[in-house]
Amino acid sequence: MGRIIMKWGGGLISDKSSLCTVLPLRIQAMAKICKKIVAMGHELVIVHGAGSFGHIRAKEYRLAEGDIQGLDQSNAINLVRSDMDMLHAHVIEALSPLVVHSHPPRDYVTNTGANFRGDLERFLQPGVHVTFGDVVDCEPPELFGILSGDDLMLRLSNELPDVEYTIFAMGGTPGVMTDFGNEAKLIPKLTADTGFTGIHETDIDVTGGIFLKVERAFEISRNVDHVWFIDGHHPERVMDILQNGETIGTRICDV
Ligand code: IPE
Repeated sequence: MGRIIMKWGGGLISDKSSLCTVLPLRIQAMAKICKKIVAMGHELVIVHGAGSFGHIRAKEYRLAEGDIQGLDQSNAINLVRSDMDMLHAHVIEALSPLVVHSHPPRDYVTNTGANFRGDLERFLQPGVHVTFGDVVDCEPPELFGILSGDDLMLRLSNELPDVEYTIFAMGGTPGVMTDFGNEAKLIPKLTADTGFTGIHETDIDVTGGIFLKVERAFEISRNVDHVWFIDGHHPERVMDILQNGETIGTRICDV
């Protein structure tokens, strides 16, 4: 049974527009499917996003830009970290009674982006592993920055052994769409040649939104056979992928 790396998007598990508003039913529904996956014998790593527990304050205090002279950002760093701990606690609690290893990135990561430094060996112990997008320390001149869960998805998918499925569960969108607005259609299979416009909520999002996710997903698809974007409002679609190799969603393909 192969390893599964799964993202629970911040927009799935929190109300993105309202500060620190958790969506417990979404978390419980994802946790339920994860328990089934573990019972099937898969190794599982969960990366969760931040949603309104991270982006709102990080945006206000420009944390993704690193240290800014004349702006006191230290309170905001501590606040975002403690808010993320709160969201993380909801995720961990929902996974009970599974044996869960928690890995806050501030404890093992330096620098942001796809080339962050951090020992991923810790994800190899038996049990389910959970990590998340976080405020991490960076080398000068930045001193700190925001590590996106999507960069964790990339490195975990490409560097841990036996990864067979990488699944991004998003909040309320069936996958990657051709466009935004009412006319948008689901793209069932996305290759480097497929055009899409997408939408990046720059007013909310301090990391890269759908564009970063898709870019990372392409890099993952060079190594991992099944790379998918699905609607986390329908967690059973994860099971469709594992059992039938297909579902409603977007499969990201290298060729
Ligand atoms: C962002 O992580 C982390 C913080 C803002 C602290 P992600 O980029 O993985 O979060 P979502 O999924 O977009 O909310």
